[in-house]
Amino acid sequence: MSIKGSIIKIAGPAVIARGMTGARMYDIVRVGAEGLLGEIIRLEGDTAFIQVYEDTSGLHVGEPLESTGNPLTVELGPGLLTGIYDGILRPLEAIRKQKGDFVARGAVVEALDRQKKWAFEPTVKTGDQVGPGDVIGWVQEFGFKHTILMPPSSKGGVIVDVKKGECTITDPVARLKDGSEITMMHRWPVRAARPVARRMDPTEPFVTGQRVLDVLFPVAMGGTAAIPGPFGSGKTITQQTLAKWGDADVIIYVGCGERGNEMTHVLDEFPELEDPRTGRPLMERTIIIANTSNMPVAAREASVYTGITLAEYWRDQGVKVAVMADSTSRWAEAMREISSRLEEMPAEEGYPSYLSSRLAAFYERAGRVVALGKPERRGSITVIGAVSPPGGDLSEPVTQATLRITGTFWALDDKLASRRHFPAINWLRSYSLYMQLFKPWYKEHMPADFEELRDRAGALLQREAELQEIVQLVGPDALQDDQRMVIETGKMLREDFLQQNAYTDDAHSPLTKSHGILKAIVTFYDQALAALKRGMLLDDIINLKAIEEIARMKDVPKDQFDQYIAGWLEKLPGAFGVKVAAAG
Ligand SMILES: Nc1ncnc2c1ncn2[C@@H]1O[C@H](COP(=O)(O)OP(=O)(O)O)[C@@H](O)[C@H]1O
Ligand SMILES: [Mg+2]
Repeated sequence: MSIKGSIIKIAGPAVIARGMTGARMYDIVRVGAEGLLGEIIRLEGDTAFIQVYEDTSGLHVGEPLESTGNPLTVELGPGLLTGIYDGILRPLEAIRKQKGDFVARGAVVEALDRQKKWAFEPTVKTGDQVGPGDVIGWVQEFGFKHTILMPPSSKGGVIVDVKKGECTITDPVARLKDGSEITMMHRWPVRAARPVARRMDPTEPFVTGQRVLDVLFPVAMGGTAAIPGPFGSGKTITQQTLAKWGDADVIIYVGCGERGNEMTHVLDEFPELEDPRTGRPLMERTIIIANTSNMPVAAREASVYTGITLAEYWRDQGVKVAVMADSTSRWAEAMREISSRLEEMPAEEGYPSYLSSRLAAFYERAGRVVALGKPERRGSITVIGAVSPPGGDLSEPVTQATLRITGTFWALDDKLASRRHFPAINWLRSYSLYMQLFKPWYKEHMPADFEELRDRAGALLQREAELQEIVQLVGPDALQDDQRMVIETGKMLREDFLQQNAYTDDAHSPLTKSHGILKAIVTFYDQALAALKRGMLLDDIINLKAIEEIARMKDVPKDQFDQYIAGWLEKLPGAFGVKVAAAG
C-alpha cells in the first residue's frame, strides 16, 4: 500500500509533506507531478522531511507525493565496470540523452544494460542446495571473472533448473524448487551494509607503491585513510596514483566536486589513465560516481553510500576493492545544506549533529571479510577519503570527525606542495594506527631490519626538524658535526626517499626498492658518524660520490634495483676509506 501526501513546504533540495502516516524512514518518494525522486530523512507524526535528488525548481506547495514503500536501492550485476553514474547510480550519459540536459528531472534510468548478453557459466547444477551469498556461476567482464551470487537477502533452496550461455541480466539463470527465479542482477539498499560471514582483523598492509605511505604511514588492506589538504596540495593526484598502483582489483571513485570544474577534470582524465598491470584502460576495473557542483546536493549525500554498496558487491565476490572519496568535505557540505533547509538544530559550524554518525556509517563499511556463502571467498574494501578543510584548518568539524574514525592520516601540506615536494605528505603530522598489527606480516614479507630502519628514519626526520629550528634561530654554525650530519641525512630522506614524482618511472616503488633506498640512507648515516669519530672531516663526507648515488637510486630500473643496492652497500665502507675484506 502506498502512502500519498501533499507538499506543505519547499526549501531548495528539501521538501516537507503532510499526510505521510505509515511512511518509513529512508523510504523513496516520488515528489510532485513530475515524480522527482526523494528520500524521507526525518519523520514527525504525519509530517515527512524529504531530501530530493533532483532540481526542485518549479515545484509547488500542494502538489502530491507518494511513498514507494522501498528504500533507495542500487542495481548490482555485470555491466557496472567503466560506468560513470550520478550519486544514485543513474548513468550520466543516459540521463543526458533522455532529457537533453546534464541531470534530468524525474528520469527513471536503469544502471545496467538490459539488452547486453553475457555468457553465463554456471558452477552449480540441478539438485544443488544454494543459500544466501553462494556463488552460482560467473561471466567474463573485461579482465574479470565476474561472480554471480545468490542475493544475500534470498532464502535459498534447491536448484531445479540452471542455464548456461548467453543471457541478459534479467533472464533467469537458475530456478529454485519453490519457483523463485535467480537473475544475474539483484538490488540492494544503499544505506544497509551487506552481510558477511565474518570480519577479519586488518593485519596486512594495502601496498600502494608510494614510499612515504608504505614505509612510514601504511593503511591496512580493508582499512581507512584520510587525506586532508588544502586546494592544490595533491589530494586528487594521490587518489589517482593509488587507483593506478594500489593493490586493488576494483576502484570505486566517488567524486564530489565544486571549485573550477574539478569533477569535469576527473571525468576527462580518468578515462585516459592506463592500468599499469595490463596496459588496458584503467576504467575497465573502475566505476565513477560523479557529483558535479551543478548537480542536486541530495544525490551527493547519497553518493558515498552508493559507492560503498558497489564496493561491498565486489568484496563479496572475493576481490580487493579500493574506494576513493574526493572530497568528503563537499559531501558533508551537502548534508549541511539539506539540514539547514529543514531548519534542524545546527551543531558545530552549522553541520548537523549527525555528521559524525553519517561519516562513520560510511567508513565502517570498510574491512577485510570472509564473504557470505560458499565456496569461501575473502575480499576487502579499503577506503581513502580526501578532506578539504577550509583554509587548511585541521580543527574544523569534518576533519576532526574523520580523524576519529580513520586509521591512517596523511596530512597534505601546501608549503611542501609549493616547494614541489611531492607527494606533499607532512611526515611530522601524519600517522598510522595499523603498524603494530602488521608486525607478523612484516616478519614474513620484509627484510628483518625493515621496522628498525623505518623507526630510525622517523626519528632522524624528527631530529632534523628540531635542528632546523635551531639553525633558523642561531644559524648553522651553532651545530656540531654530528648534528650537521643529521641535517644532511634528513635532506637525503626527504629528497631521495620521501619525494616521488607521480609522472616518472618512480611513480611506483615496490617494497624492495623502498626498503633498499631507506637502507642506503640509514647505512650511510651510520658509517658517516663512525667516520667522523675516526677523524674524517664532515666536508669530505658531504662531498662523497655516494650521496649523489643515493640521489639517483630512484631512477635505477625496478628490475635491476635489488642487485644494484646489494653491490652499492658492499662498496660503501670503501668510500669511507675502510678496507673491505675481499670476498672468497
Ligand atoms: N605525487 C605528485 N607528483 C607530481 N606532482 C604532483 C603530485 N601530487 C600533486 N602534484 C601536483 O600538484 C597539483 C595539484 O594536485 P591536486 O591533486 O589536483 O590537488 P587537490 O586535489 O588537493 O586540489 C597537480 O596538478 C600536480 O601538478
Ligand atoms: Mg582535487
